[in-house]
Amino acid sequence: MKVTIVRAGNVGAACAQRILEGDLADVYLVDVVEGLAKGKALDLAQAAPLVRHRRRIEGGEDYAGAEGSDLVVITAGVPRKPGMSRDDLLSVNGRIVIEVCHALRQVVPEAIVIMVANPLDVTTHLAAQVYQAPRERVLGMAGGLDTARYQTFIAWEVGCAPHEVEALVLGGHGDSMVPLPRLTKVRNVPLGELLSPEKIAAIVERTRNGGAEIVSYLKTGSAYYAPSAAAADIVRAVVRDEHRVIPCSVRLEGEYDLEGVFLGVPCRIGRRGVEEIVELPLNEEELAAVHVSAQHVRDTVAAWEALQQGQGDLC
Ligand code: LAC
Repeated sequence: MKVTIVRAGNVGAACAQRILEGDLADVYLVDVVEGLAKGKALDLAQAAPLVRHRRRIEGGEDYAGAEGSDLVVITAGVPRKPGMSRDDLLSVNGRIVIEVCHALRQVVPEAIVIMVANPLDVTTHLAAQVYQAPRERVLGMAGGLDTARYQTFIAWEVGCAPHEVEALVLGGHGDSMVPLPRLTKVRNVPLGELLSPEKIAAIVERTRNGGAEIVSYLKTGSAYYAPSAAAADIVRAVVRDEHRVIPCSVRLEGEYDLEGVFLGVPCRIGRRGVEEIVELPLNEEELAAVHVSAQHVRDTVAAWEALQQGQGDLC
């Protein structure tokens, strides 16, 4: 299989590396900056004998090179600076994402699109509008990343391996995301039996601020090791047809009592993309939190639409 990765920045290049070294697919790396994708592709290709994989990578400035791709991963857009929310990026990233999707659609209209640019749920919505593809094929990477952060913080407290934490984070990729402590288990033991409510609340809060915490240290960029791992994880589930449940942003059509909004929910991912949306047995409070998050995404989409009509300002 072949994956096109749009932009050869930190997330894009790290994602390419993970896909190659995970022996998942061949990669085409595309970036508007002259020479950037070509240079990084060459560098990544020359690591192959050392890390022992047979995958091919090419880089270029032209979307024509995406031809034949089964998936595209869109990492285009600017990252946050300290003090910014993901929504603050929309006026810039919204335009970039629309332009990129128009270009890709000419070349690979049938590809599965994995959106990575922020604000994630809104850029996924915009990509789906441009692509006009069935909802199975346009999804956003965020829930996997947010869940991984939540698992990591829990593992540090409990003293286990992060992957031994069974957990899911739902909702939008922002301050209103919804970690689900009631449904979280460590080696089958409910989290509530292992940690105090105060500790759990602190972990939930740190998860919500997980991206901003890293931005505050890096100052000139945002996280990319975990985001690229989360994007590559979705690629793996598709190319290996794993039918694995990963929280992704998809268009809801009645699930969780929501209609027509992109939001992070557990999705079964396989060769066709989203095979199923898993509806967890949420209690009233959890469902209300998911709805608050959905409203935030709707408001941001509405602000974007007003901006396009010259009637408003974002946020
Ligand atoms: C983060 C950015 C990539 O959460 O959204 O780190």
